Amino acid sequence: MGIKKFDRHSLTLAVDTLNSKQLVAIPTETVYGLAADAYDDTAVARIYQLKQRPQFNPLIAHVDSLEMAEQLVEFSPLALQLAKTFWPGPLTIVLPRQVDSQLSHLATAGLDTVAVRWPQHPIATAIITRLGRPLVAPSANPSQAISPTSAKDVAAGFGDKAPLIIDGGPCDVGLESTIIDMTVTTPTILRPGGITAAQIKSLLGDVTVAKSNAFIKAPGMMRRHYAPSKPVRLNARAAEHGETLLGFGPEYDSVNNLSPKGDLCEAAANLFHMLRLLDSHSNCQKIAIAPIPNEGLGVAINDRLSRAAAG
Ligand code: TXA
Ligand code: MG
Repeated sequence: MGIKKFDRHSLTLAVDTLNSKQLVAIPTETVYGLAADAYDDTAVARIYQLKQRPQFNPLIAHVDSLEMAEQLVEFSPLALQLAKTFWPGPLTIVLPRQVDSQLSHLATAGLDTVAVRWPQHPIATAIITRLGRPLVAPSANPSQAISPTSAKDVAAGFGDKAPLIIDGGPCDVGLESTIIDMTVTTPTILRPGGITAAQIKSLLGDVTVAKSNAFIKAPGMMRRHYAPSKPVRLNARAAEHGETLLGFGPEYDSVNNLSPKGDLCEAAANLFHMLRLLDSHSNCQKIAIAPIPNEGLGVAINDRLSRAAAG
């Protein structure tokens, strides 16, 4: 679709593209983001597919107001103070998920916390406002590559797989947002970025800075990640006593099936909400999962499933 300068036509095109579950690369003040409708599992699965992430790293939900953020997360008084001071801007706040939030469970990798940010970029917020929903957006680069700070960087990174790119010129900050976890007793900076630790400390007082950025380099090592409370058995061809089988592909029952047509993107989109569903079924004591091909998005699906099976 190529690079489009921002104007009212490309705004409409961007919103139409997002509404049809496709991705759009958008400028923010930090770096360009690869954006998808935050409420749509299929759109979110396309992010992981295009970035070729071997794991489901949780994504940041971008909003255009405090009001929109409050539909996703629960603010403590301290978190609210933080948001009111630094938003819009390069600060991402991790907060407990609102129970009735429509946010894709794939976007949060099944976590009960959500990273949320109100960016300070008129194009990013214009698109969110027109869509009327939050956008999840990791940096718009293939996994392992450097974050893009111009439309050209995004195009170069993805080559002929590049999505629609809205050109907003170079990014002002050029460095990702600071991430602060407000779900722990002492607020903890998980990733240094556009807002400094000193700026945050002057407001909150007691703040911990997470050691190194092992956290970001190895998302799988995250302190908390979602796993079903029930035992999980992998590579199952049939259910044994007390088990409920979660299939993949046409040879399995279509009721509990990650993708009856055997599509990995559809399977990724269904993964977390189907695991949650089976986890809450009273007649399911153990979850048996059919083999998933270990290619493309299947690598990230198998990574998550093997963690779930390991307990
Ligand atoms: O500046 C930015 O933050 C850019 C622009 C596009 O907004 N976005 C960005 O996204 O850097 P990404 O996906 O590259 O980095 C998001 C980070 C990841 O390290 C992820 O693990 C962390 O946020 N994260 C997301 N949800 C989290 C959660 N619930 N708890 C802890 N960390 C979370
Ligand atoms: Mg990144």
